[in-house]
Amino acid sequence: MPDISRSQALWERARKHLAGGVSSNIRLQEQPAPLYFSHGQGSRLFDVDGNEYIDYVAAYGPLILGHSHPELVAAVQRQVELGQTYGGQHAIEVEVAEKLCKLVPAMDVVRFCGSGSEANHALFRLARAFTGRTKIIRFEGHYHGWLDDQLVSDHPTSVEEAGALPFPRPVLGSKGQLPHAAGETLVLPWNDLVAFQQLIAREGATVAAVITEPIMCNGGFILPKPGFLEGLREICTREGILLIFDEVITGFRADLHGAQGLLGVTPDLTTLGKAVANGFPLSVFGGRRDAMELVGNGVMHGGTYNGNPITLAAANATLDVLSRNDGAVYAHIRAVGLNLMQGISEAAREAGQAVLTQGIGPVFFAWFTDRQSLSSFRDNWDCDEDKYAAFQGKLIGHGVRTIPSGRWYVSAAHTDEDVQQTVAAVARALRET
Ligand SMILES: Cc1ncc(COP(=O)(O)O)c(C=O)c1O
Repeated sequence: MPDISRSQALWERARKHLAGGVSSNIRLQEQPAPLYFSHGQGSRLFDVDGNEYIDYVAAYGPLILGHSHPELVAAVQRQVELGQTYGGQHAIEVEVAEKLCKLVPAMDVVRFCGSGSEANHALFRLARAFTGRTKIIRFEGHYHGWLDDQLVSDHPTSVEEAGALPFPRPVLGSKGQLPHAAGETLVLPWNDLVAFQQLIAREGATVAAVITEPIMCNGGFILPKPGFLEGLREICTREGILLIFDEVITGFRADLHGAQGLLGVTPDLTTLGKAVANGFPLSVFGGRRDAMELVGNGVMHGGTYNGNPITLAAANATLDVLSRNDGAVYAHIRAVGLNLMQGISEAAREAGQAVLTQGIGPVFFAWFTDRQSLSSFRDNWDCDEDKYAAFQGKLIGHGVRTIPSGRWYVSAAHTDEDVQQTVAAVARALRET
C-alpha cells in the first residue's frame, strides 16, 4: 500500500465531527479505509498523499465523461459568474428539458430535482395520485433510494430474512424506518413474469405502479430476460398500472437513449440521475404528459435548489458532448469496458482464480464465484463478498480504485492504455488475494 498517512489523519479528524466519518454510508465500505481526494482529471483521481488512481468508481456512477471534462468545466464557470441560484426560471432549464424529451423515449414532460431518491419518491406520489391506488410493486435486489418507503428488499441477505420465492417478504433496510414503511410495497423476484402475472391476478386492482431498474445494476449486473420487460409493459397497460423505469444508473450510461432506448421498451414514467449532469447533483423525473400534468396541479413537488442554473449548465454541456455525432462516444465506452471485462477474466484464469464478469461495458460486475453467469439476485448470495472486498483493497494499493461491492463504471475518458495498466494491476492484486 502506498503512503496514505494524510488520508488517515483526515479520517481520524472526520470521525470526530462527521457522522460515521463520511457523508454517505456506502463510502464506509472502501478498503483499507476511506481515502481523501484532492482532484480528478479524466480517468484519474488523486489523493491528498499524491497517489494517483485509475478511477472506476466514477463517483458511484455519474462520471460518464470522466473527471473535469473541459466543456463542462467551462459551462459551469460561465454560469457561476452569473449567479448561483435564482429560485426562479432560466433559459437553460428549458433547453435541458427539451433535450431530455428528445433523447429519452418516455419523456414528454420532465421535472428537475436533486437526487435519485427524491425523483423516485416524486413518482411514487404521482403514480398514486394518477391511479387512485396505493401499492407499488418492486423487485428484490433493486435499489431506488434511501427514503422510508424506498429502502425495501434492496439487499436482503438470506432466505430466513426474505422468505422463499416467488413471493418474498418485504425487508426493511435501516433501523429507524417506520414499521409500516413497506406496508404499500409488494416485492417480487426480478425476471419472473409468471410470478408477476400471479401477483397481478391477486392484487392488480390495488397497484399504482411497478418500478424496476430496466437492467439490474445494483444487486449485481443482470440483463432482463427476453420478453420480461415487454411482459411488464403489456400487463401494466392492460391493468391501468404505471410502469416506472428507474434509470438513475442506466440513463445516459447504457446508451444515449437510456436502457429503454437500447432495449426498445418504453415505460410510462422514468427517473434519471447520476450521469445526466456528470457529477453535479441533478435528478429528473418525467414521462407521459397526462400523468405529469398533475405535477403542479394537485401533486406537490418542491425544492429550494431544484433546477439551479449551475447544475443545469453542467447537464446541458454533458448532453451536448454525449449527443455529438449521434452518440458516437458510446461505441468507445462500450469497447473499452468490454476489453476491460475480458482482460479481468483472462488475468483471473492465469491466476487460477474463479472470477466472473458480467455487463455491457459502461457498467459491469465482477464476482468471486464458480458460476458461469448470475441470473437472479439471490445468486449473489453464494459469491464470495469478503474475498472481493479484500481484492478491492489490494487493487487500490496498485493504483486502481473500484467499488467494494463489485460494480465497475467505465467512462469516455478511459483509454486502452488505462485498460492495460488496470489488467496488470488486477493480475497483481489477484496473486495477493
Ligand atoms: C437505480 C438507482 N435508483 C436510485 C438511486 C438513488 O439515487 P441517489 O443516490 O441520487 O439518491 C440509486 C443510487 O445509487 C440507484 O442506483
